[in-house]
Amino acid sequence: MNNFFADNITHIKNLTKDEFESLFEFTEILNSATRQESLVEDAIDIVIKVINAERGLFVKYDEVNDSFSIVTARKISNESITDLHEFSSGILQKVIKEKKPLLYHDVMSDPHLSQFESVQIQRIKSVIGVPIVRDGKVWGVIIADSQLDRREFTEENLLFLGFFSNLVSLALDRIIKLEELEKENQILTNRLQSVFEIPDMIGESAIMHSLSQLLYKVALTDTTVLITGESGTGKEIAAKAIHDLSKRNDKPFLAQFCGSIPDNLLESELFGYKKGAFTGANTDKQGLLEAADGGTFFLDEIADISIALQAKLLRVLENKEIIRLGDVKVRKINVRIITATNKDLQALVKEGSFREDLFYRLNVFPIKVPPLRERRSDIALLTSFFIKKMGKKDMSIDPAAIKKLESYYWPGNVRQLINIIQRALILCDGNKLLAEHIILEEATDMENFQGTLREFEMLLLKKRLEELNGNRTLTAKSLDVSVRWIQLKLKELGEQ
Ligand SMILES: Nc1ncnc2c1ncn2[C@@H]1O[C@H](COP(=O)(O)OP(=O)(O)OP(=O)(O)O)[C@@H](O)[C@H]1O
Ligand SMILES: [Mg+2]
Repeated sequence: MNNFFADNITHIKNLTKDEFESLFEFTEILNSATRQESLVEDAIDIVIKVINAERGLFVKYDEVNDSFSIVTARKISNESITDLHEFSSGILQKVIKEKKPLLYHDVMSDPHLSQFESVQIQRIKSVIGVPIVRDGKVWGVIIADSQLDRREFTEENLLFLGFFSNLVSLALDRIIKLEELEKENQILTNRLQSVFEIPDMIGESAIMHSLSQLLYKVALTDTTVLITGESGTGKEIAAKAIHDLSKRNDKPFLAQFCGSIPDNLLESELFGYKKGAFTGANTDKQGLLEAADGGTFFLDEIADISIALQAKLLRVLENKEIIRLGDVKVRKINVRIITATNKDLQALVKEGSFREDLFYRLNVFPIKVPPLRERRSDIALLTSFFIKKMGKKDMSIDPAAIKKLESYYWPGNVRQLINIIQRALILCDGNKLLAEHIILEEATDMENFQGTLREFEMLLLKKRLEELNGNRTLTAKSLDVSVRWIQLKLKELGEQ
């Protein structure tokens, strides 16, 4: 700013009162411009008005290619100017070279300028060129000219335009910086939205970041998705997120829990039935798969469905059609299927309790929701989220409490975290949640343990197996031992 005034002080001193007043007005106009385009339009209007020019042109200069392009033009006669040849490009070159406003009188008799065809054709008498400079380089040039029958431009005009050119340059600098910030902001917001904005899914760890990216990608497609992950990790949230982010989101999202439900009940829920299909079927009834038409159907705990139902589900996936129980009519359905399990489906396939062909149909796009212990950095965030959700907005959390939560093993994952927070809030009387309010069963058991190391090993193994629904593969993984080791230990216990 200081440089600006130092450079312009002589110009300012020489301005007349009228000019000073118009400059003040123009400064306000230039300052209110928020886009490059409007700044350019305002600038050219001001130049034409001040020097009473007949034609005006704003050209953008491309330094790399040493070329010009017309940004906007004005002509008193209102004809449009689209061709740069109508103007003297010689003047443009000179302004760029000298980086200051230039004025030429009696252009037609100047041997350097009159050679240009444009000058002859347009019968130009005087021309004025004003550079707009950015970062020491010419960004654009305003050219205005006057023809033979009009009045000439003056040295005062030139002085005024020199000052004006600096003002436009300053405004341009401000606008470009603002536009760059806006763009950056837009990119950042977009990135945030596309990565983290999964409704209800809290987490900022790298592993959750990758998960949400996957959810976003798969939501754009119509493929069948198999969501795996331990109990309570958020598989249902993930399934709902895929639906919400997909183009099916204005259609239903229906879910059916398949674990421990009698086969015929599950079948009639999913496929519906015809009146008289079985005792109690008093009317025709549409199944859930039909009701979800156009939307998404989430089959939770898919590992538990019977072999008979697996065959029926395979038909749904292969032919996209269903038959209601007791009916013969085939009905087409358009439903995206998402399934979830906390079991090792592949192991069940090997064991023979899950159809291999169905497994491949379901596993088109597998997504694993990571256990909480693999994203411990999210625990603090999740904890404060749940505390607020439970209505304790003013509750603060002692760092020791967070530490305690972060070092726990979390076999029941996020669901277990919710339960433990709920209990802690009951125990906490004040406004600060302390480590002592957090009761972690396993840890207490282990802390009070009095037996031998071997007994401790067995206790841990049994506990972990129980928490992971007897799944030996997951238990081995969580204890960092081989499945074979687990088999041997169980043999020792006489359990196999
Ligand atoms: N990232 C998360 N942010 C907020 N809440 C979560 C998150 N993950 C899970 N939850 C919450 O934890 C609970 C368990 O989640 P959900 O039911 O989706 O787990 P699940 O993997 O389907 O479990 P299960 O295998 O037992 O069915 C729900 O109350 C859910 O809202
Ligand atoms: Mg679930």
